Amino acid sequence: MTRVSILPHLKNIKPSATLFLNERTQRLIAQGRNVYRLGFGQSPFPVPEEVVQALQTSAHQKNYLPVKGLPALRKAVAAYNRKTLALECGPENILIGPGSKELLLGLQMATDADLLLPTPSWVSYEPQAQIARKKVIWLETEERNKWLLTADQLDQACKRLKARPKMLLLNYPNNPVGSTYEPDELGKLAVVAREHQVVVIADEIYGALEFTGTHHSLAQYYPEGTIISAGLSKWCGAGGWRLGTFTFPDECIHLLQAMATIASESFSAVSTPVQYAAVRAFEGSEVINRYLELSRRILHVLAQYVYHELIAHQVTMPAPEGGFYLFPNFNAYRSALIKREIFTSTTFCEHLLEETGVALLPGEAFGRPENEYTCRLAFVDFDGGVALTAAGKDPSTALDESFIRIHCPLVHEGIARLCDWLEGL
Ligand SMILES: Cc1ncc(COP(=O)(O)O)c(C=O)c1O
Repeated sequence: MTRVSILPHLKNIKPSATLFLNERTQRLIAQGRNVYRLGFGQSPFPVPEEVVQALQTSAHQKNYLPVKGLPALRKAVAAYNRKTLALECGPENILIGPGSKELLLGLQMATDADLLLPTPSWVSYEPQAQIARKKVIWLETEERNKWLLTADQLDQACKRLKARPKMLLLNYPNNPVGSTYEPDELGKLAVVAREHQVVVIADEIYGALEFTGTHHSLAQYYPEGTIISAGLSKWCGAGGWRLGTFTFPDECIHLLQAMATIASESFSAVSTPVQYAAVRAFEGSEVINRYLELSRRILHVLAQYVYHELIAHQVTMPAPEGGFYLFPNFNAYRSALIKREIFTSTTFCEHLLEETGVALLPGEAFGRPENEYTCRLAFVDFDGGVALTAAGKDPSTALDESFIRIHCPLVHEGIARLCDWLEGL
């Protein structure tokens, strides 16, 4: 039999850092060790009950749906965008896919542009670009700018680059950093993107989890060139349901069409019952609003708690503004770490996990230099259902450390262990 080989452009793709960490964590658990899963970024909250019920009552829906999505769902997503972002858009601007991740890959496969990627960035963007044979241009960011891209940095990069089509991936609230853009920063980025005709994919999957509930989109400032990527996975706790949404401006409808063609020859359409249930989620209700408010309050208090504990231990990072993550920088411990032969963020995470049971993901996995001691910390190792019930009992009571100790004990203990470990370095 002739040996079938892997295509050359796929040979360099490493298995994801998350999977590697998962294996190590499982091994420790099998040895009976306590593990604090601060590396994984899944929503801790249950899907709102009425959305679950909508899925149950739609289980009999068995026919394939149109490739671009259930018309009622495309309408509901457009209405949601109009309500939450005051965007001019209709159902014809919306594409539904099996998770925004699949849509992000589809867009890269369908287009000829080079990909501008700020570092740090979510782990999957670069491998997706490799799969789609795209050129990636990393854009440096700085910790003092919340690890976010400035308009000036974008301008400089566009001036340096050849006159090829360019697509920028901008994610906010950000994974791995937890920061987001202020409206005036978005306005400045919009001016530069317009000047250089950059199409921007605004990955706003954590938008509804901006802690103050006032998420702004680049599409409000650069409507003609912004494609919004979002979905049910984060704010609705439904990552495993696999439903993502793209919102295209009229100027990019040809890209929606191209992606729909790819979809028609690959996934065909998202699961029918899930699409019916998603209509309920995007239409929203008082109960869903309440669920979201409580989710944001819990995430906010946790983020603040972890942030202040770590800052008190000379760890640096931008203040958290939304989502599930912080991006601590342990550079203050550089000489102690070097003495222990810990030279990279990856070995930092390995030592930390082995010695304390605390799992973090190395900054290297997010495009940072390997010798920078940055890591992603996800503060979502708790039972979101229990926390929501407790927080909802007395809405007037401020959530505090005792709430975290009681209802998010693994995050509380994990942070204590991490701080003890730093003290012992
Ligand atoms: C920044 C970011 N974008 C996109 C995704 C993909 O989400 P999904 O495919 O579940 O919609 C994730 C999931 O972790 C993410 O963190």
